[in-house]
Amino acid sequence: MDHFLYRDGVLHAEDVPLPEIAARVGTPFYCYSAATLTRHYHLFDEALAGTDHLICYAMKANSNLAVVKLMGDLGAGVDVVSGGEYLKARAAGIPGERIVFSGVGKTRAEMRLALEGGIRQFNVESEPEMEALNEVALSMGAVAPITVRVNPDVDAQTHEKIATGKAENKFGIPIAKARAVYARAATLPGLKVVGIDVHIGSQLTSLEPFELAYAKVAELTRALRADGHSITRLDLGGGLGIPYERSNAAPPLPLEYGAMVRRVVGDLGCEIEIEPGRLIAGNAGILVSQVIYVKEGEGRNFLILDAAMNDLVRPAMYAAHHDIVPVIEPAPGVEQGAYDVVGPVCESGDTFAKSRMLPPLAEGDLVAFRSAGAYGAVMASEYNMRPLVPEVLVSGDHVAVIRERPSFDEMINRDTIPEWL
Ligand code: LLP
Repeated sequence: MDHFLYRDGVLHAEDVPLPEIAARVGTPFYCYSAATLTRHYHLFDEALAGTDHLICYAMKANSNLAVVKLMGDLGAGVDVVSGGEYLKARAAGIPGERIVFSGVGKTRAEMRLALEGGIRQFNVESEPEMEALNEVALSMGAVAPITVRVNPDVDAQTHEKIATGKAENKFGIPIAKARAVYARAATLPGLKVVGIDVHIGSQLTSLEPFELAYAKVAELTRALRADGHSITRLDLGGGLGIPYERSNAAPPLPLEYGAMVRRVVGDLGCEIEIEPGRLIAGNAGILVSQVIYVKEGEGRNFLILDAAMNDLVRPAMYAAHHDIVPVIEPAPGVEQGAYDVVGPVCESGDTFAKSRMLPPLAEGDLVAFRSAGAYGAVMASEYNMRPLVPEVLVSGDHVAVIRERPSFDEMINRDTIPEWL
């Protein structure tokens, strides 16, 4: 459930009609609902109620400062994957003890930054990284809390570009090597082992791959404890999918996921961390765009929008589906037509949807891409010298621009011409 609903024939974000926001900030723009973000956080929190847990919002999904602050105010921690995300999380008020640091390529500078500022744990992904972190910590007189990310070699049954838990993926260490790696970690005085980490992919639509992976983590926990390690924390990653196509079967709910987590790892007495990104932010955001032209092609009509692949890259990059709806509710029973929905960028990949059935639309009409709150604005670029899309947060009848559209002057002046040219 989200808070983008038609009221009196007009799509609203909570209590605010979207045409009002469009008139104020121009199109295209991203719009987020604070109520939906909050609701999604609570769904996970309730799903794990009664267990010792921390929900570490994966801020890569949507790292706007206001969104991260909202999460932090609810009690969430965050999962960061770069020094930049770490600094942004701190700027949003998230204390170091609620920040976990993931990623296969943490640099020594990033490690130092997090150790200086405070960190809950590093999710270490390789032996060389483990050695580097030990050296950095020792050079600072610090001890780095770590989990080791294990690769359980399970098929997440998701798009190949966002599957991370198969042996051929670059993530984690093979689970078969885990005992040897933990044995080495125990000899490194700059490290303190606190648990195990696993993340098998994103947009998972079934619980089965999670369960297979978590069962392997439970078995490993027992083996590592028998080896004398203190495993008190399990980071189970993110990955729960969302319903992008409302017509399709819905992915499992956080409540079902939580029940499975309890069943599979609940008896280990470990603190549970999860790192959801998409389920928190995805359906809490939309991208609103205006029709520039409707163009009749050979046997097809093109709906040419003012949003493009640089603003929302998921369709071009993963052939992802986003529902597209008109902001003015069509009259009941109105006949729909097939449109190829495209942006103005100069490549054919700038296509959001082919033969999408939509009610009649004309120049100037507004449309909204649903489920665009995660991996939308964060993956945008300024390709074709198109300004980054502004972001707006709505809460009830409050509207705030939480990122302005840059001016062309700002964009041009970011470059410099060398004096010898
Ligand atoms: N934890 C780790 C270590 C991750 O790598 C990710 C996502 C998450 C948590 C959050 O997963 P989520 O709950 O959002 O599924 N750009 C792609 C998605 C990339 C996901 C990368 N890792 C997309 O637009 O579909």
